[in-house]
Amino acid sequence: MVQSILTLNKKPGRGTERPAGFEKMLRSDQAAGYRRFSRFWVQHLASDKMPVTTGELFSMKRFTCIDLFCGCGGFSLGVERAGFTVLAAIDFNQEAIAVFRRNFPDVPQVLQRDLTKFPPRELAKLIITNEVDVIVGGPPCQGFSTVRQRDGANNGPRMVEDIRRHLYLEFLRYVGFFRPKVFVMENVLGIRSAAGGKYFAKVQKEARAKGYRVHPQIEKAFALGVPQKRQRQLIIGTRLDLPEYFRSELEPAPRATRQPSLGEAIGDLPAVRAGSGEEETDYDMERRKAHIAKYGRRYLYETLEVRRAAKLTAHRARPHSERDLRDFARLREGEHCAEAMKRGEIFEFPYDKKTFKDRYTRQHRNEPCSTIVAHLSKDGLMFIHPTQTRSLTPREAARVQSFPDWFAFPIARTHQFRVIGIAVPPLKVKP
Ligand SMILES: C[S@@+](CC[C@H](N)C(=O)[O-])C[C@H]1O[C@@H](n2cnc3c(N)ncnc32)[C@H](O)[C@@H]1O
Repeated sequence: MVQSILTLNKKPGRGTERPAGFEKMLRSDQAAGYRRFSRFWVQHLASDKMPVTTGELFSMKRFTCIDLFCGCGGFSLGVERAGFTVLAAIDFNQEAIAVFRRNFPDVPQVLQRDLTKFPPRELAKLIITNEVDVIVGGPPCQGFSTVRQRDGANNGPRMVEDIRRHLYLEFLRYVGFFRPKVFVMENVLGIRSAAGGKYFAKVQKEARAKGYRVHPQIEKAFALGVPQKRQRQLIIGTRLDLPEYFRSELEPAPRATRQPSLGEAIGDLPAVRAGSGEEETDYDMERRKAHIAKYGRRYLYETLEVRRAAKLTAHRARPHSERDLRDFARLREGEHCAEAMKRGEIFEFPYDKKTFKDRYTRQHRNEPCSTIVAHLSKDGLMFIHPTQTRSLTPREAARVQSFPDWFAFPIARTHQFRVIGIAVPPLKVKP
């Protein structure tokens, strides 16, 4: 996604404008960036006594990026794979930062900071530059969620003040300071309608005032090879002094599987019962063989990179009450509780059966999974396994989010669910 905006090598796709001289302009801009950036690496690499010449550094130079509200690093992983160098990542959540550090040992600055209290000039001191090519980030989205719009907390006269709705300002503060060529902000679709569209309009207006062309774009994860129904709002800004160049449609990554199903993403994993499974265990190679015979190896090998993972981790199912397990068993594959009630099933759960129509949902193997969300850390009722009587494990959720199997989540299970649930699927950005 980001790469498509900054790409130098690809031919423009349909619906793109690429004026004469575009490559040349970007290249000269890049070359200046290379020289500045080389100085940065010389200082860092010198301490490791690495034999790197300026010429080598020049050829190694890649676009630089910072990731704000980075979570465990879904966005960063995609951005790194697109060929960018992540200079810094910031989030105030301790567990998210622990996971980020574990998986990105080469990112120079991974900071646990409250972005409302950490000004960009402090970051500039740490990364020894105030020039960055790209800023990406996903300010929290709860303040815009459509669920909360329906209950009135995010819309209408009963709207509750939520400071998280203003965190986009911190993002734009960084944009204003570093003046990247491009920024990409991800949020839920609800931002379009929250408070009658006020915030959606404000983000764009303020970014334009900072000297950016702004493209709001809806992106559908499924079409980009992620096995879930997720749709998100991107707000993409390109600096006004750069030539206009924008892909009107995001394209799936070359290694993405065409519209993979949930079964394709998780069907090789060993069966586990509710409340069981190991934090680290062996793969079941017989099961993998049978899985590949059915679905092929593309999602497993190309997206999940199973060959890079020595062990299977985070495949531990949460426990459920006996009552919940009996209710799970009442659901057919792909069905939610309102549908099952229509065909005469009687559920024991005590929640309002009219309001919580899809509160209990059994996912279907042959379809994309429901959108993985942070609520997964509270309960897994909307994410019941297609054929086993339990909810999805963190590893299964991570696979649905397109995290490779080597990506480690060395934190408690509830936190695993949370950081996975709020992440940007890496495959969406770039394989
Ligand atoms: C939607 S998630 C971002 C996920 C991330 N882009 C990824 O791909 O994994 C929002 C993140 O913002 C962080 N956050 C919320 N308020 C913050 C603040 N004031 N300062 C820093 N981080 C904050 C949360 O901890 C959460 O990890």
